[in-house]
Amino acid sequence: EYKSDPKTSNKLEEIMSTVPKRKGAWLMFNDLYLYERFWCSSFQLEGILRAQDHFKPQPNDVILSSTPKSGTTWLKALAFAITTRSCVDESTNPLLTRLAHDCVPFLEFKLHSSPQKLNLDVPVVATHIPYTSLPKSIINSGCKIVYICRDPKDAFVSLWQFHHRVRPKGEEVSAWEDLPLEDAFEFFCEGFTPGGPYWDHLLGYWRASLESPEKILFLKYENLKKKTEYWIKKMAQFMGYPLSLEEEDKGVVQKIIDLCSFENLSNLEVNKSGKARLDVGIGVNTFEFKNNTYFRKGKVGDWKNYLTPEMATRLDQITEQKLNGSGLTL
Ligand code: A3P
Repeated sequence: EYKSDPKTSNKLEEIMSTVPKRKGAWLMFNDLYLYERFWCSSFQLEGILRAQDHFKPQPNDVILSSTPKSGTTWLKALAFAITTRSCVDESTNPLLTRLAHDCVPFLEFKLHSSPQKLNLDVPVVATHIPYTSLPKSIINSGCKIVYICRDPKDAFVSLWQFHHRVRPKGEEVSAWEDLPLEDAFEFFCEGFTPGGPYWDHLLGYWRASLESPEKILFLKYENLKKKTEYWIKKMAQFMGYPLSLEEEDKGVVQKIIDLCSFENLSNLEVNKSGKARLDVGIGVNTFEFKNNTYFRKGKVGDWKNYLTPEMATRLDQITEQKLNGSGLTL
């Protein structure tokens, strides 16, 4: 952890007063700033700058990256289960008593639901920072990156739902307007989302993964759902924690799958009734919300319950256009 310093604060102020700014619509209705071609709130921007100035990864660190609502919580749980499997007993795994975000922190902000620090040195950290804005120390170090992306239709619905479940602490609910689906959809299509444009975030990591496949593993939520065992083994190998034959014989992969499954995690007491706190700086409140905000349905294709066929076609067309020629398909 590192504190804000005057250099970073000055930079923050300068950037906030010069880059395009747009009235907030999403999540906590903070204004969003277009920093290095991506929209972010002031507290995220502060976190990005702080990380750029101070983050010093160890060569064996693994960075988990994603846009919000693409499966970050699941990826954190899996990475944590993979890296701790030989030093923690199954029945006492911290994932059973803590939100995954308390087991694997974010690089650029603090999200806590448990006050005590974890007594384990797990070399995994997560981020929503776009590839081109990552701290140079990450790019220049030997550390590996695992990226997860998701069908934009499901990511959009998940984000829209999340928006309605996050409330600032102490604020009256009525102060928080509704964000109609149609409006949210327009924002998403034009790229105006936290961490957006959505497709550009994916493309940054996708291109980097083509250039350096040994450094970046590119995952899709849908594939992880379909072939969980295959991808867990791949992830473990890539992260430097390969499963031995003996472990495979003992059913270790299945244990990881079961521990991290939506059904298991979402039914744990901590994730049903615990509360997470987002510590945000610069004049913004502390936000508190239930841990169950991170567990909604965990399904592929839930968009069908929300989007009209026209909306789906439009989003698919944008995706096709944006990804055209990149080799990435969703
Ligand atoms: P839905 O809103 O579609 O249910 P993030 O973790 O990036 O915030 O993404 C949240 C999405 O991942 C939510 O999607 C959530 O339900 C789903 N999710 C959370 N934990 C999961 C798990 N263990 N397995 C599969 N999906 C999970």
